[in-house]
Parts: sequence; structure tokens; C-alpha cells
Amino acid sequence: MIENKTVFVIGAGIMGSGIAEIVAINGYNCYLYDISDKILDKAMNDIGNSIEKLKNKKVLNENKEDILARIKVTKSLKIDSKPSIVIEVAPEKMDIKKSIFSEIDGYYPDTEILASNTSSLSISEMASVVKMPEKVIGLHFFNPPVLMKLVEIIPGYVTSYETIEKAKNFVADLKKEVTMSKDYPGFVTSRMLAVIINEAAWMLYEGIASKEDIDKAVNLGLNHPMGPLALADLVGIDTLLHILERLHTGFGDDKYRPSPVLRNMVYSNRLGRKSGEGFYRYK
Ligand code: 3HC
Repeated sequence: MIENKTVFVIGAGIMGSGIAEIVAINGYNCYLYDISDKILDKAMNDIGNSIEKLKNKKVLNENKEDILARIKVTKSLKIDSKPSIVIEVAPEKMDIKKSIFSEIDGYYPDTEILASNTSSLSISEMASVVKMPEKVIGLHFFNPPVLMKLVEIIPGYVTSYETIEKAKNFVADLKKEVTMSKDYPGFVTSRMLAVIINEAAWMLYEGIASKEDIDKAVNLGLNHPMGPLALADLVGIDTLLHILERLHTGFGDDKYRPSPVLRNMVYSNRLGRKSGEGFYRYK
């Protein structure tokens, strides 16, 4: 059982704000950290809009204001509370993640779970910078967090059995399903996702089919909810390129060699929905 229902979410981008939303919807108090008011304002606005959509669909009964009141924004990593769970959702750079883990190490000695939402980086490496590596674990959510049913749990090399059980209980509290993965590049889901999207980008590069037909083929012929290129726009082209590079270097296998299309898109800030344009354009 998680006794103290306070969660500290570090990073208020699309995933961090979505995680804060689910946590608050499920009755937890949440602190949401980021470096600027602009990011935090956007996060709270997105959360409010998402709650409204869920209320319109009658998925939620509680007042929007009561849910929002459980989320407090902060620009400091040292908060005036004792979170039982910390979830790092910072950019996918090991240096940034390690610096966050080292800074918060010692601030919250009673914390039960120190989690990262990384999609492909090593949990064991992040754990190497804290005094209690047995409490560090991967809790990998999916975009959009409020709708997706899974959380992938990734114990690091020295994560304790107790931490794993607490993480499972926490995910159950959020009314999500769990799958377990060992701590190797891309775990299960990102490894699979990156290969599918990379193959679609290679097919586009080779002129096998148009982007619309690649997506339609996978959507209607294979029954995926979205085509791989539309999904790439949702996940973020930079995130995907990063996962592919991690898989390529981590396994030393050329089957993960990123398509040059993805590189060109990142160089040109065509990052998908978040930049307004990726494979498709967004308002
Ligand atoms: N909050 C609340 N409601 C939302 C929402 C949000 N954030 N996002 C979408 N919705 C609602 C829409 O408003 C819509 O409501 P309506 O039916 O009343 O109009 C409903 O959900 C369905 O949305 P859409 O009609 O826009 O589109 P879809 O029916 O295709 O559903 C989807 C959207 C759930 C995103 C679906 O397309 C899907 O499941 N796509 C695949 C997503 C996926 O694979 N995500 C995982 C990516 S990998 C990842 O995130 C891990 C990372 O680490 C790499």
C-alpha cells in the first residue's frame, strides 16, 4: 500500500502533464515541476482541457476544479512536502536525468519509489547516482497517458522486490495494467514501436508508398489505431530518433539504423504535433 498519497512529477511536458492528470484524477496530491511559468501554465491548461473532454464523455464525475486543486505547480526541486513517489519525466538525456536524481537524492529520504518515465534509457545507470538505488524503477507511461491503459514497469539491476510491489500497487491505483520488462535499451514497447516507425520512414525514403498510403495500410490492413507516421507525429520525431540511436548503440545492431528522413526532420524542427508539423501539419 502507498500510505502517503503525494506524488512529485518532475517535468511538465506532454507526458509529465498527462501523468500529473491521471495521478490527480485518482485522488493523489501532485506537485508538478518545470523550469518556467510558461511550460507550467500550458501544462495546467492542457490538463484542464483534457478533464473537460473526459467530463463531457461522462467518464469523470468529480468537478474539474476539485481535481485541479490537487495539482500544485513548482519551479523548485525541493518542495515543502514529503512525496511518497517521485516520477522523473525530464527530456530524454541521461545527463539531465542523472543531475535531477542527484539533486533530489537526500531531499526525500522517506520516498518509497524513485521512478523515471524514460522510454529507452538505462534505469540502472540513473540509479547509480542515488543513495538508495533499490528504490529506483522505470514507470513507462504512454501518450496520451490519460487514455492509454498500460504502464510498463522496468526494475533496474538492484531494484528491490518491495519497490517493484509498491510500483505495481501504484499503477493499479491509477487503474492501469502492468507489463514487466528487464532493463535493456527500449524495453519491450519502445523497441517494438521504433522498429515499426523506422521501417515506415525507410519505405517513405525508398518511395515504396505515400505517407498517406503507408498509414492507411497499417491502420486498416493491420488494424492499428493510427498509422505509424501519424503515431510518430504524436510521440515526437526527436523522441523516436533518440530511441533508435539508443537501440543502435545499445545493441550494436544495424537493424536499428535510423532512417535519414527522421534525422532531416529533427534538423528542420519538424518534430510532429508538438512543433505544429511532422509528417503531417497540425493547427
Ligand atoms: N484527454 C482526453 N481525451 C482525449 C485526449 C486527452 N489527452 N486525447 C484524445 N482524447 C479523446 C478525443 O477527444 C476523442 O474524443 P471523442 O471520441 O469524444 O471525439 C477520443 O479521445 C478519441 O480521439 P480521436 O477521435 O482524436 O482519435 P482516436 O479515436 O484515434 O483516439 C488515440 C486517439 C487514443 C490517441 C488513438 O488513436 C490511439 O490509441 N492511438 C495510438 C496511440 C499510441 O500508440 N500511443 C503510444 C505511443 S508510444 C508512447 O507514448 C511511449 C513513448 O515513451 C515513446
